[in-house]
Amino acid sequence: MIIAQISDTHVFRDAPDADLRASDLERTIADINALKPAPDVLIHTGDMAHGGRREDYALAASLLRKSHAPLYVAPGNRDDKENLRHAFSPWACRASGGEFLDYAIEDFPLRLIAIDTVSRGTNKGDFSEEHARRLIELIDAETTKPIVAFMHHPPYIVTVGPDPLNFVTPEAMARLQRTLQHSGRVIAVFCGHVHRSTGGRIGAIPVVVMPCTATSLRKGDYPPQMRDRPVYHLHRIDAANGLCTQARIVEAAAADADGCQRRSA
Ligand SMILES: [Fe+2]
Repeated sequence: MIIAQISDTHVFRDAPDADLRASDLERTIADINALKPAPDVLIHTGDMAHGGRREDYALAASLLRKSHAPLYVAPGNRDDKENLRHAFSPWACRASGGEFLDYAIEDFPLRLIAIDTVSRGTNKGDFSEEHARRLIELIDAETTKPIVAFMHHPPYIVTVGPDPLNFVTPEAMARLQRTLQHSGRVIAVFCGHVHRSTGGRIGAIPVVVMPCTATSLRKGDYPPQMRDRPVYHLHRIDAANGLCTQARIVEAAAADADGCQRRSA
């Protein structure tokens, strides 16, 4: 199974770089659509829009509807969950009504679980007893397939960048770590939020964090020729080889040695 991941698009029509943010997203989707083999699914790990306004979600949705792969989204701290749900449910968000925007996708050999880590009033993640109860319910609803979880906030100590703890308390992050490990079936966790490429582990579970799709907000050092080139992640997962993550540069050279090639025109 091949999962394409984008994150932190921060679509915002009032930003000075509004057109760039939109074109970064548009170019990234075009690049993903040209992949061969095509990814099975596209996930967005939050901060879809910067100010949470309906018009920004409408713009993001119009660009993301061009994705050939089915899309599923998780909320970030910049998102307005109600407006995100309004623009993306049910086609790219299967959450039922209510405060939490969490859900499972059962259409693939691996189950996908979107986790809502958005806190009230802070930009950090939260994971309360209620969050844990809901996640255990989602995990235990099916007991045979491996699970890939995706969420906005990285649930480990990120020692690159300004703030290692991305949750409101260490206890909230530890609760999420315990819950992810409870079944033994979660095989990978994909996140965004810190706008840079990094990764860690929760016990045996690898956590991969992708850089910001919006190039103007991306952290980390990139050479000048890459500054206007979005980066996205492709995660290949199979029973024999486990997880292999590739960072792809939008509009990079025509072919990769690994068989993931741009379609010829
Ligand atoms: Fe962000």
